[in-house]
Amino acid sequence: MRRGGTYIDATVGLGGHSYEIAKRLGAPGHLIGLDKDPAALAVARTNLARERLMGSAGVPPAADWPEITLMQCSFAEVGKRFGSGFADGLLADIGVSSLQLDDAARGFSFQADGPLDMRMDPRGERTA
Ligand SMILES: C[S@@+](CC[C@H](N)C(=O)[O-])C[C@H]1O[C@@H](n2cnc3c(N)ncnc32)[C@H](O)[C@@H]1O
Repeated sequence: MRRGGTYIDATVGLGGHSYEIAKRLGAPGHLIGLDKDPAALAVARTNLARERLMGSAGVPPAADWPEITLMQCSFAEVGKRFGSGFADGLLADIGVSSLQLDDAARGFSFQADGPLDMRMDPRGERTA
């Protein structure tokens, strides 16, 4: 990873990987986080907020936190939204998040009853 570079987390989820990337990027860097699920993005937005993290052990000073842009979209759109050579690297941790599995109403759980929904973006698309 290059400090000060531009990196894309194509499946930001709750922001765990993004947080580790952000720490290594530093203020000159730019992290772009994508997710289809608006609920996951809302949690990631809180988890990655500079104001919230400052003072925690291992977090760089506020002045050394990168620019972070979170976008609700599919990783399938990366090529269309960002030209080739735009980013120094991309991480895709493809799958479902605990947020989705733990909420029976989302329809991903096989441990709890719920509708067979399984939409990553509850605002659109067809249910399963
Ligand atoms: C395993 S989780 C990622 C966890 C994340 N790396 C972290 O550290 O918290 C997978 C994420 O991919 C998202 N996802 C699934 N399909 C997607 C797609 N087509 N485009 C963007 N995000 C997608 C899910 O909503 C979920 O939040």
